[in-house]
Amino acid sequence: MAVLLPGGAGFIGSHTAVELLNAGEEIVIIDNFSNSKSQVLEAIRKITGKDFKFYEMNYMDREKLEKVFKENEINAVMNFAGYKAVGESVKKPIEYYTNNVSGALVLLDVMKKYNCKKFIFSSSATVYGDPETIPITEECKTGETTNPYGTSKLFIEQILKDLYKSDNTWDICILRYFNPIGAHESGLIGEEPQGVPNNLMPYIVRVANGTLKELSVFGNDYNTPDGTGVRDYIHVVDLAKGHVKALEKLNKEGKGLYIYNLGTGKGYSVLDMVKAFEKATGKKVPYKIAPRRVGDIATCYADPKKAKEELGWVAEKTLEDMCLDSWNYIEH
Ligand code: WQD
Repeated sequence: MAVLLPGGAGFIGSHTAVELLNAGEEIVIIDNFSNSKSQVLEAIRKITGKDFKFYEMNYMDREKLEKVFKENEINAVMNFAGYKAVGESVKKPIEYYTNNVSGALVLLDVMKKYNCKKFIFSSSATVYGDPETIPITEECKTGETTNPYGTSKLFIEQILKDLYKSDNTWDICILRYFNPIGAHESGLIGEEPQGVPNNLMPYIVRVANGTLKELSVFGNDYNTPDGTGVRDYIHVVDLAKGHVKALEKLNKEGKGLYIYNLGTGKGYSVLDMVKAFEKATGKKVPYKIAPRRVGDIATCYADPKKAKEELGWVAEKTLEDMCLDSWNYIEH
């Protein structure tokens, strides 16, 4: 019995692969390295001392996907094969909806055919749009996403709800990630954005090591304590462990559609992050105040109570760990 990880060589997929192997699960990874590198597979083996099967393929390739299900006894799937660059999604909506939504449909249809009905889905806090109340609970309204990436997550959530309604023998868990940062403490796997990074932490580490000149802080006139945007940054290893807990729940209790926020419940501003990074690493992060970025909101952080109560999961790593591990990976 194995857990299938499409996109398992990517940032969150690779960290989850490590935690699943550490928890004694068997895994099968499929990836086409569209946003990852083949060396990640060796790194996962090195960190865990365990082996797994790998298929180099696009997860939307139905014929190949069926072969994977025929050759392995897959009892659950965690899908990490989504495209995730917000800005790019605005320029390439067809590619984003095709890969994320059509890809998920192919995957779910093949799962159904092979009677594999446990699915853990990587969703995002972005489905809440501009939240009405803070901290954000799972009951908060979703919708009004501002880009095709976010809308693709919303669409897939709806597809999963409809699927469960049609057949309640599915066990589905939707995990809404807040802002994953950090890297494995070994420094062997981490986040590798292509080109100039859009997200805050990958940008900060590249300013600190001199690859980029200075950070642009997008707006200091938000209604927040220091005027800069507030987010719930979560260590990717904590996030990965949340998937293991979600799988445990589906394996033990099954039969249901569950939705959980995976966040720390703490909000940090952009300037808090710069200060925390400087303190943890001793590196300077020069910055300038720049105009607001289109589509950004002031504040976003989770109420993580439901995941604590129902999954027994809490984020354990500190902001210092997140900064040090992000830095350690890039310097490795
Ligand atoms: C965080 C804060 C920026 C860069 C996005 C997606 C979300 C998820 C994670 C995943 C904001 C500020 C950033 C910079 C800055 N997607 N910032 N200068 O926008 O909260 O979430 O990534 O795959 O779905 O929407 O994350 O890291 O881009 O920004 O001042 O150079 O840092 O304005 O306040 P965001 P982020």
